[in-house]
Amino acid sequence: QARKLFDYNIVMIGFMGAGKSTVAEYLSTMFAMEVVEMDQEIVKEEGMSIPDIFATYGEEYFRNCETELLKKMQSRKNVLISCGGGVVLRECNVEHMKKNGRVVLLTASPEEVYERVKDSDDRPVLAGRKNVKGIAELMEARREKYEAAADIIVNTDHKTVLQVCE
Ligand code: S3P
Repeated sequence: QARKLFDYNIVMIGFMGAGKSTVAEYLSTMFAMEVVEMDQEIVKEEGMSIPDIFATYGEEYFRNCETELLKKMQSRKNVLISCGGGVVLRECNVEHMKKNGRVVLLTASPEEVYERVKDSDDRPVLAGRKNVKGIAELMEARREKYEAAADIIVNTDHKTVLQVCE
């Protein structure tokens, strides 16, 4: 059996619309790595959409799902993990991902994020703030946490997916 490429996981973090899922998908193909899309995994496990999980059980419940999943991923290697944008809100999550992963932060300007998220309705934390100003404020409130968790920071503004992957 071929040796695994990485003896750790690559963990993508960043604000909603920063490109985590897209970049993780491409990288997983380039490196023939398994990809775990945390939001999708939670949706599968819970059998309902993210807005439904938030509406039915509340945000705290969703955050607990994230923490449980990250804990599980600590024992894995060579997996590309694409996190939900709020994963850095809990310090214990950052500890779990750092245990066995190199953390890549993708960034994008509020204007760019707005363009990428404006047509989708599946992000409950953007309810009531889906405009450039609201996005900029939430991004700024989280910025320190994202930067503290990151091993590498890649800005995605005006870049192709391939450029970001490289
Ligand atoms: C969230 C981001 C979402 C999803 C949930 C909460 C956040 O993931 O986990 O709606 O708090 O930033 P994406 O970053 O993939 O949109």
